[in-house]
Amino acid sequence: MRVLVTGGAGYIGSHTCVELLTAGHEAIVVDNLSNSSEEAIRRVEAITGKQLPFYQVDIRDYDGLDEVLGKHQPEAVIHFAGLKAVGESVEKSLLYYQNNVQGTLTLCDVLSKHGVCDLVFSSSATVYGDPASVPITEDFPLSATNPYGRSKLIVEEILRDLQVSDSRWNIALLRYFNPVGAHHSGQIGEDPSDIPNNLMPFVSQVAVGKLECLSVFGDDYPTKDGTGVRDYIHVVDLSIGHLRALEKLQQKPGVVTYNLGTGNGYSVLDMVKAFEEQTGRTIKYRIADRRPGDIAMCYADASQAKKELGWEATRDVNDMVRDTWRWQSQNPQGYG
Ligand code: NAD
Ligand code: UFG
Repeated sequence: MRVLVTGGAGYIGSHTCVELLTAGHEAIVVDNLSNSSEEAIRRVEAITGKQLPFYQVDIRDYDGLDEVLGKHQPEAVIHFAGLKAVGESVEKSLLYYQNNVQGTLTLCDVLSKHGVCDLVFSSSATVYGDPASVPITEDFPLSATNPYGRSKLIVEEILRDLQVSDSRWNIALLRYFNPVGAHHSGQIGEDPSDIPNNLMPFVSQVAVGKLECLSVFGDDYPTKDGTGVRDYIHVVDLSIGHLRALEKLQQKPGVVTYNLGTGNGYSVLDMVKAFEEQTGRTIKYRIADRRPGDIAMCYADASQAKKELGWEATRDVNDMVRDTWRWQSQNPQGYG
């Protein structure tokens, strides 16, 4: 299958391109490089030995997208492009709505013109807000507590409306839990441009000596050790989930929604301990105040993806921390 990948130079996008190319699909990337580097594209080509056509195009640029689609005529799209920093979204809400919502509208407009109506969308477990219980199933109530999360929720709703108004569309809404890890080659991985907001990149930058000390945001949550519990999922497992979703769209299902997580919850201190055990490094940490907006526990019931997509995560927490460390230690400056 020929697949257009928006945001394909980014963390999850680059890993998904590896899986697409390895499985014999063709991929074409559009990315404005606002949070990534073209080096990631070259590394995907090195890992796979395949070509990955790349266009530095913004998804808000109708004519730019129109040209790429006219040239490559993809059969399906995986739409990763978006801004994802929760804190920044509070400061720059219009930017987030313009980029994530307006960008998706423009993309869908161009796709519709070219009759490309199979779409996989990167949603997030953030659409469940503060869930009343765990594990979380796809039918839990949805809410948003910040503009980033609201942009995902709005796009989900827009895509549902789009499918109702035009039945050519088949759309998979994939709600990711906490993607971590890296390709086992150590060639591609997560490369935050600033001080990381997320736990695992922060831990690995402490381990490599770039950052001094991890702040553990709160040890008074109602969890086993008082620190926040999340469903960390290896980025390669997550990427493979996108291939299964593309296959599902061939059955013309309309709109389908899946949690992509492992179904297991690990606390912040569990992750620190696993990292120390697997890498032999000591992670200096201190207990800090809770981070505003954080929830105590979030993990998936991923049984729907298993049943309907035949997909489940196979990599465990030790694989996640080992692969994170291989990437970080081989590339202390990221893509440099
Ligand atoms: P990322 O920032 O590494 O990748 C996103 C890519 O999109 C980047 O390469 C960026 O340059 C590009 N991009 C952003 N705006 C664009 C635009 N207007 N036009 C073209 N390209 C644009 O992030 P990621 O972690 O790979 O996330 C991919 C998607 O998954 C995002 O939509 C994100 O919101 C979603 N998601 C991520 C997580 C996570 O924890 N990483 C969790 C849930 C959902
Ligand atoms: N944490 C720390 N110290 C840090 C960073 C994080 O203690 O320096 C803790 C958090 O308090 C939380 C856990 O580590 O308990 C995970 O935090 P992350 O920031 O890595 O991830 P979140 O669960 O807060 O959010 C992530 C993405 C969101 C997405 C959500 C659900 O950042 O965009 O997963 O998919 F919406």
